[in-house]
Amino acid sequence: MSSSTGPGTAPPRRGTAAGDAARAGRPLLVTTRDELDRVRAGLAGPVAVVMTMGALHEGHAALARAARERAASVVATVFVNPLQFGPGEDLDRYPRTLGADLDLLGREGVDVVFAPAVEEVYPAGPPRVVVSAGELGAVLEGASRPGHFDGVLTVVAKLVHLTRPDVVLFGQKDAQQLALVRRMALDLDLRVEVVAVPTSREDDGLARSSRNAYLGARDREAAAVLPRALRRGAGRADAGAVAVRAAAAAELRGEPRADVDYLALVDAVDLRPVPDDHVGPALLAVAARVGSTRLIDNVPLVLAGAAEDGSTRR
Ligand code: PAF
Repeated sequence: MSSSTGPGTAPPRRGTAAGDAARAGRPLLVTTRDELDRVRAGLAGPVAVVMTMGALHEGHAALARAARERAASVVATVFVNPLQFGPGEDLDRYPRTLGADLDLLGREGVDVVFAPAVEEVYPAGPPRVVVSAGELGAVLEGASRPGHFDGVLTVVAKLVHLTRPDVVLFGQKDAQQLALVRRMALDLDLRVEVVAVPTSREDDGLARSSRNAYLGARDREAAAVLPRALRRGAGRADAGAVAVRAAAAAELRGEPRADVDYLALVDAVDLRPVPDDHVGPALLAVAARVGSTRLIDNVPLVLAGAAEDGSTRR
């Protein structure tokens, strides 16, 4: 694994299994760490890795495309990580659609897919040593999902060690995951570039998520209140933090089917709530249950403060 390199467009090395599969329009599927080691050794660099839990949609396709644009070889991982699911969460009903996932990844020019079984990733059983997300992992999503981000970071660290990427790409939609992976890369010297890819959205603004598939027709319509609230909040960024929160909250109140867990205006790096007089970049984040489906979304914005003469300052 080397640190960041610039974008590259070279195809995978000729004569390798990954190169042959890519030329045939489908990724090479590997399921064991030994196979992965062999295939990884033949990949032309820089190597980009996109980590997923499968059930792929256009949002993942955007990640794969961004990876394709900046690396000579692209590896995607498909692994539903039990460690990041709490008791009563949807591990068992999480959709498993490997055939369709391979088709999508093939269309996006992914060279190799690593889709291991649980025993391949955790050969010694549930790990006794895990990565701790610390206080960054206890706020926002972490407040209602204790241990979730320890599970995420542990598997991300393992997949980085197994796939040895130059660059890993994560969606802006999971802003807390992104912030934590960035921090882990720094704190644990992962020596990998972490790239954020903008949130991919449906026509009405709803952020693409595997969980959208659980929404019935009425809930699907109601769910569009999340991006509307974020847009309305962001539209008040020039008026400062208080106005942003108030505008977003007013929009959310207008949709009784959305049971809001949190609406937070936070620093994008340390995830702490920004003070009312904050000026500069921030993240407006929301989580709500619509029907039985919990949805999250966020938008980065730059806050200006209201000066005494009524003008704005940045
Ligand atoms: O974002 C996800 O799909 C998962 O949290 C990840 C990063 C693949 C780890 O399991």
